[in-house]
Amino acid sequence: MEIPACVCLRFFSFLWLLVGMLEGTESEQVIDCYGLKGKSFLLDVEGVKTEELRRFYWKLNYTQTILEYTLHNTHLDIFPQYKEKVMFYQKNFSLQILKLEESNRGIYTAITQDRHGKDKNIVFYRLIPQDSVIKPELKVKSASVSEERCNISATCTVGQDNSVSYRCQQTQCTEVGRDYTESDDLKIVVTVKNSSIVCNASNRVSNDSHSLALKDVCRNSEPHNAAGIIGVTAGTILTILIISILSIYMEI
Ligand SMILES: *[C@@H]1O[C@H](CO)[C@@H](O)[C@H](O)[C@H]1NC(C)=O
Ligand SMILES: *[C@@H]1O[C@H](CO)[C@@H](O)[C@H](O)[C@H]1NC(C)=O
Ligand SMILES: *[C@@H]1O[C@H](CO)[C@@H](O)[C@H](O)[C@H]1NC(C)=O
Ligand SMILES: *[C@@H]1O[C@H](CO)[C@@H](O)[C@H](O)[C@H]1NC(C)=O
Ligand SMILES: *[C@@H]1O[C@H](CO)[C@@H](O)[C@H](O)[C@H]1NC(C)=O
Ligand SMILES: *[C@@H]1O[C@H](CO)[C@@H](O)[C@H](O)[C@H]1NC(C)=O
Repeated sequence: MEIPACVCLRFFSFLWLLVGMLEGTESEQVIDCYGLKGKSFLLDVEGVKTEELRRFYWKLNYTQTILEYTLHNTHLDIFPQYKEKVMFYQKNFSLQILKLEESNRGIYTAITQDRHGKDKNIVFYRLIPQDSVIKPELKVKSASVSEERCNISATCTVGQDNSVSYRCQQTQCTEVGRDYTESDDLKIVVTVKNSSIVCNASNRVSNDSHSLALKDVCRNSEPHNAAGIIGVTAGTILTILIISILSIYMEI
């Protein structure tokens, strides 16, 4: 199963634990997590001492209990509305949210209860489900070639109204115009690699790309379409000519 943003998550939870230890207090910091809709998402827990533990809970939005796990008899109670939605790993207390959807948005809290009945918040996650990025579309406006060197002007568009223009010389690409606001929700980059010009669009949870082979883009010194049109036109004229000549002979 694909579990995105997991590494970043662990990094943050480690930081959080560190802060908690240094301050010697219970931190209530909420860690933002972005998950790809339709995929599962793992909420990890670290630094729990099992010896002291009596129960473990996962709660949603502070008041709704998702599950209750009792350690001494390994009894797990997942509340009915979450039975199909979550998986709980008893060995490390991680909670997996299955088939992430908009309605799973919320604050997820891991809570322990020790042998003396004292509850403690272990970690708070704000889970934000997101759509994958729209597939980018790369269009070459012009390409000029001489002595195996190729300069390309290209525009990459993502969705209706996000576009960026690049100029690439050999493998060096420079942005020359931008018609979108770059953010963690959308980044568009054009590069030349692996003998292709590639547009890569990414957001917090996914990335997608459109690439065109340099051997096709840099085929001739004329702008692409013009050359194509000339070729097609020449072909058509030739065909008409042959047909006319043939028909003249046939009539005779
Ligand atoms: C907890 O267990 C699950 C399932 O084996 C695993 O995917 C996850 O990485 C584990 N989490 C930690 C913090 O080790
Ligand atoms: C939890 O809170 C979030 C944000 O306040 C809300 O969008 C979501 O619907 C809540 N979820 C449940 C199950 O109450
Ligand atoms: C590519 O661009 C550079 C800089 O503008 C120019 O010096 C070079 O002649 C161009 N090459 C081709 C093949 O157009
Ligand atoms: C490079 O491009 C070729 C064909 O365009 C493709 O088959 C190959 O997987 C690519 N390699 C990498 C590392 O992207
Ligand atoms: C697109 O960009 C992302 C983020 O920089 C990167 O992880 C990914 O490998 C890139 N994809 C391609 C096909 O280059
Ligand atoms: C980019 O997408 C590929 C496959 O779609 C994925 O394996 C990779 O983890 C993604 N990279 C990022 C930074 O999202």
